[in-house]
Amino acid sequence: MCGIVAYIGSQAAYPIILKGLKRLEYRGYDSAGIALYGKNITNFKKKGRVAELESWTDEITLTASVGIGHTRWATHGEPSDVNAHPHKSNSGKITLVHNGIIENYASLKQELIQKGYTFESATDTEVLVNFIEEIQQSNNYSLEEAMRIALKRVVGAYVIIVMEEGFPNRLIAARKGSPLVIGVGDGEHFLASDASPIIEYTKKVIYVNDYELAIISEDEIILKNLGNEPITPYIQQLDMELAQIEKGGYDHFMLKEIFDQPASLTDCLRGRLDSENMTLTLAGVEQHLSVFAQAKRIVIVACGTSWHAGLVAEYMIETLCRIPVEVEYASEFRYRNPVIGPGDIIIAISQSGETADTLVAIERAKEQGAFIFGVVNAVGSSIARISHAGAYTHAGPEIGVASTKAFTAQLTVLAMMAMKIGKAKGTLASAEYDRLIAELALIPEKVKTSLATHEKIKEVAKHYADARDFLFLGRGYNFPVALEGALKLKEISYIHAEGYPAAEMKHGPIALVDENLPVLFIATKDAYYEKIVSNIQEIKARKGMVIAVISEGDTLIRDMADHVMVVPEVDELLAPLISVLPTQLLSYYIGVLRGLDVDKPRNLAKSVTVE
Ligand code: AGP
Repeated sequence: MCGIVAYIGSQAAYPIILKGLKRLEYRGYDSAGIALYGKNITNFKKKGRVAELESWTDEITLTASVGIGHTRWATHGEPSDVNAHPHKSNSGKITLVHNGIIENYASLKQELIQKGYTFESATDTEVLVNFIEEIQQSNNYSLEEAMRIALKRVVGAYVIIVMEEGFPNRLIAARKGSPLVIGVGDGEHFLASDASPIIEYTKKVIYVNDYELAIISEDEIILKNLGNEPITPYIQQLDMELAQIEKGGYDHFMLKEIFDQPASLTDCLRGRLDSENMTLTLAGVEQHLSVFAQAKRIVIVACGTSWHAGLVAEYMIETLCRIPVEVEYASEFRYRNPVIGPGDIIIAISQSGETADTLVAIERAKEQGAFIFGVVNAVGSSIARISHAGAYTHAGPEIGVASTKAFTAQLTVLAMMAMKIGKAKGTLASAEYDRLIAELALIPEKVKTSLATHEKIKEVAKHYADARDFLFLGRGYNFPVALEGALKLKEISYIHAEGYPAAEMKHGPIALVDENLPVLFIATKDAYYEKIVSNIQEIKARKGMVIAVISEGDTLIRDMADHVMVVPEVDELLAPLISVLPTQLLSYYIGVLRGLDVDKPRNLAKSVTVE
């Protein structure tokens, strides 16, 4: 889950690659490097952030117009100068950057050591570059031929971009499992893990598919599969603006993306929800309505925050469509050999659309005949492309590692899916359907109202910034919100936080409660309200500190709790879209108060493209 960037053209490559790597730092930021083709290929790499590369000021950084770059999230070999990319082959003739994992690198390494190869790093990538060289030299193949042969033998995920001494005007790239976008310029081309390093130069892009190879010069792109068959490049137009990937005056991307939500939810509803005519249009569902209407069960597969969105969807779909739903951690689902077959619907939820566990889980389910429906944010991403159908969340680029606006957009799409299928099945009455459409139309405004209380939430954060542990509790639709709130706080503040169904407390976790433990209740007005009031009393009876997310006008819990965060009243089914907002802001402010890098939390990366 690294970030890679490359450039070939007439401009100086170094500044373009450096800026691009900074845009991709959310994918990994423990070491970085660039290789430029001047008189020959020169490497410069360092442990630490991309900014470390700015100390490279040699002549070549001003003149070279071809180069490759990498920002790393270590998998094989600790973060260090020697393990940083790019990696060179033993002869020094081949240099490459790699995003992904070569699972059979150890056996390949043994083979190469027996042939006299030596290794200076602990990475799988250095094994790959030498494996390509071995095939090239022992068969007198061209680099392209050697790559095609080598890549058929490696197991795992990769995007590689390769330079070769003697070929100053050529890059060769290949992809399987990790993302690669090519930006089509005029006399120049850009390559990157996603469009953010490309957008300021061109909006014409090619999304490279698995098992494809691209041979790129400054004025030509040749696409082939590993079988050496030519492929016609499919050039698409990016519908993203540069401003969308800048901070827009906020201190952090996370805060910007939290405040983006009124707009991102409006974008998510645009062209889909029409509250004047009481209609809902979701093409991906409509084209397969009979599949959904006849479904015996739905299995939701996802990771992290997307898995929490799946849990909310379980409540929504079972309530409105009366179809049993199972929510699966993708990493467990893919190895558990689950009972899956024709007639089963898999909903894959993913912001990045590149999460390896989710991707492989649905590949397996697809092989077994299941119907795959993707709920994805990143347009053109792998999960979107291998799904039979889907719905984009249109939340716009999400740069902060902690997912915020993508989560609420996922909930919005999942709510629209449940409403659409319920209406079609007749399990959701027209009047109720219309009422929910009217409620959904009010959400962007209610989000704006909720976020307007951010100063009050900042005050609450000051009371709990030094907490060692935290409990988040909720019931019904708000139970997954408790899990999501706990995840956000863990990610951003490194405080140990756990989420639980409130009633589950009595079965153990209540033993943790004392005057030092903050307990945050997601306690908006719903069918569970009375129950959650008594859960709060149980905590107060044991001197626990209670923070509560409450609905406007709720004086009962206001008087019981130590601190409250108030949100507008909203229909129970849509409550998670609103009740999650104070937990996003609270974790943000606590992270800032603890002096942490809230956009790039330690040990994390935005898109987990390896197992
Ligand atoms: C959430 O804040 C985290 N970044 C992480 O849990 C994330 O939700 C998970 O990795 C899934 O990512 P995806 O939605 O891109 O598949």
